[in-house]
Amino acid sequence: MNDTGHLYTDLAWLWPMWGDVATEYAHYCEHVTGLVRQYAKLPAATLLDIGCGGGKNVLNLKREFNVTGLDLSPAMLAQAKELNPECTFVQGDMRTFRLGRAFDAVLMDDAISHMNCRADFVAAFRTAYAHLNPGGVLLATPDVTIETFQQNKTTITQATRDGLDVVFVENVYDPDPTDEQYETTILYLIRDHGRLRIETEHWTMGIFSLDTWRYVLRETGFEVHEGLYNPGRDEYTVFACVKTR
Ligand SMILES: C[S@@+](CC[C@H](N)C(=O)[O-])C[C@H]1O[C@@H](n2cnc3c(N)ncnc32)[C@H](O)[C@@H]1O
Repeated sequence: MNDTGHLYTDLAWLWPMWGDVATEYAHYCEHVTGLVRQYAKLPAATLLDIGCGGGKNVLNLKREFNVTGLDLSPAMLAQAKELNPECTFVQGDMRTFRLGRAFDAVLMDDAISHMNCRADFVAAFRTAYAHLNPGGVLLATPDVTIETFQQNKTTITQATRDGLDVVFVENVYDPDPTDEQYETTILYLIRDHGRLRIETEHWTMGIFSLDTWRYVLRETGFEVHEGLYNPGRDEYTVFACVKTR
């Protein structure tokens, strides 16, 4: 099945409905902020959010940092700008972009899963490294790893707003556990004043072992620390990676 890109183009307007904008990621961002303060070897004032999407992390992080967001999708960047008009947003590909300026902290969270081969995964961390000041810290959180992946995990989220009723059904599946890819499939049930529209999404995502994460981050040049983030039933490894020079 070929990959689609609805959520980041024609369906980007649904992103604010997928989880509560004000609270989603708030706890995660507090955790991330604590790690920046703990590991940065400078008073961190600026932060680059790579793969900022619709700017939900930005909304939570801008209280603590002067935040710049970067994303590949103009439609997602428009959502992020609407939510955070005072912040700076830039379009670019995390594998290749170079802004020509550096930050005290860089965040890479769920967007990194779109790096679905080793070369892209490595390239994205080189980008993060290139945008950090010496003493700055990258916070990176794998959505999934080979150790934590739950075959056929299916999540259903429902939202209602202004006559719209939307159900997001998200399924993850790994057809070949020996390679470094898995599939995300999404079903959107969009009811506009009761009238049903059905859309589907299919993505090939990247999945790596924790040891691969550690190896790639160290090879990039980082001093790697790790902790655990427990928002509820699930537990995530968070890498705090210092650029020492
Ligand atoms: C799930 S969204 C991120 C949501 C975000 N965490 C938030 O706070 O709203 C994933 C994002 O990754 C972006 N993305 C995918 N591939 C990318 C790439 N190569 N470079 C930059 N951004 C990319 C997509 O455009 C999308 O906006």
